[in-house]
Amino acid sequence: MKKRILFVCLGNICRSPAAEGIARKLIRERGLDYFTDSAGTGDWHTGEAPHSEMRRVATERGFPIDDLRARQVKSKDFFDFDVILAMDHQNLRDLERLKKQARGTADVRLLCSDGTDIPDPYYGGADGFYRCFDMIREGVEEFLSEVVRE
Ligand code: 4NP
Repeated sequence: MKKRILFVCLGNICRSPAAEGIARKLIRERGLDYFTDSAGTGDWHTGEAPHSEMRRVATERGFPIDDLRARQVKSKDFFDFDVILAMDHQNLRDLERLKKQARGTADVRLLCSDGTDIPDPYYGGADGFYRCFDMIREGVEEFLSEVVRE
């Protein structure tokens, strides 16, 4: 069955669009049949393109994300997706609460299975975006190798 994967952070303009951009390219390269999307628990940036600094880093790393647009998590996501991956523990807590309210079925987990949070780069400097992007890439690589084994 086709796996449907949703990446979630707070604003859907920094971490989760980067995760989506990395995942969709790796999935294509590996010939996998997975559907990906990303969303934010907050709605402040709905309709916006990813943060300019994250777009720059993503393009530099070979995973352009200029086409992505932010949206907020909705109840239906907990039925439409098989796996919902949170970037940090706060996102995870928010998603677990929303899943309970929706009585949804999606498997909600942290992106990094070792419990590491992807730090929010929004309030930091340019360096933060590189570090964040590379951490996300590692997390996505690991996650994809795990689901392929499942
Ligand atoms: P993200 O970063 O959750 O990685 O997209 C943020 C973007 C915007 C805000 C917070 C975090 N904000 O408060 O607007």
